Amino acid sequence: MTRITVLGGTGYAGSAVVREALSRGHTVTSFSRSLPERDTRVKGVTYKTGSLLDPDVRDRAVEGADVIVSTLSPRGELDGRIVEVDSALADLAAQHGVRLVVVGGFSSLRIEAGGPRMAEGDDIPPQFASEARQMNEVLSVLLAAPEPLDWVFFSPAAQFGSYVPGDALGRYRLGGDVAFYDEAGVSAISGADFALAIIDEIERGDHRRVQVSAAY
Ligand SMILES: NC(=O)c1ccc[n+]([C@@H]2O[C@H](COP(=O)([O-])OP(=O)(O)OC[C@H]3O[C@@H](n4cnc5c(N)ncnc54)[C@H](OP(=O)(O)O)[C@@H]3O)[C@@H](O)[C@H]2O)c1
Repeated sequence: MTRITVLGGTGYAGSAVVREALSRGHTVTSFSRSLPERDTRVKGVTYKTGSLLDPDVRDRAVEGADVIVSTLSPRGELDGRIVEVDSALADLAAQHGVRLVVVGGFSSLRIEAGGPRMAEGDDIPPQFASEARQMNEVLSVLLAAPEPLDWVFFSPAAQFGSYVPGDALGRYRLGGDVAFYDEAGVSAISGADFALAIIDEIERGDHRRVQVSAAY
């Protein structure tokens, strides 16, 4: 049993991660600014509140965890501040020997091996560009972070998010830093199956200090 703390455990990706983690018998804590509606809370998850812009809240979030999963998004008050928050969390995680899993974006992947990451180019639709670049900067921070920080950066498929929730199919494929597609040329994954990939990684520990992508 692992103590898993999900930052943003009430959001789209985060709520799928807390649900999967709990169903597998882990001890799960969620941090967000507000509590979810009572009828949407996952029974058995400890929901804590506070803004992760607050250093005391970050301390509380890291204390007592074996793994932190950051599913914070660079929106609202975290727009323009996600790099600062995730960097501070990375420092704390290294200090306390806690593993850090960060959920980022599809655009941090490359089209081809050795090529630029999509977020580094000009082809991202304008509505996604700022979020894509900020999460890509978080990845750059992790890539530059010295040992002993134990991190994994998870990029979902292109079709992922609350607007395309999809179904739980109980399967996924893992890739590295190059985007991949299914036999129909589609890059997609449901929240539930993305969470499955994350909890499998937490249990197996197959990857360390690398970017991983999960899609069908
Ligand atoms: N296809 C793609 O590439 C794709 C698509 C979607 C998302 N993503 C990425 O996936 C990650 C998660 O996105 P998401 O859509 O799941 O996010 P989301 O639904 O917006 O959830 C964000 C979570 O963070 C919490 N939160 C926000 N500000 C906070 C603060 N200051 N302190 C503490 N908690 C805070 C929210 O709860 P409160 O508001 O109550 O605090 C919520 O639980 C992001 O990195 C995003 O860029 C990628």
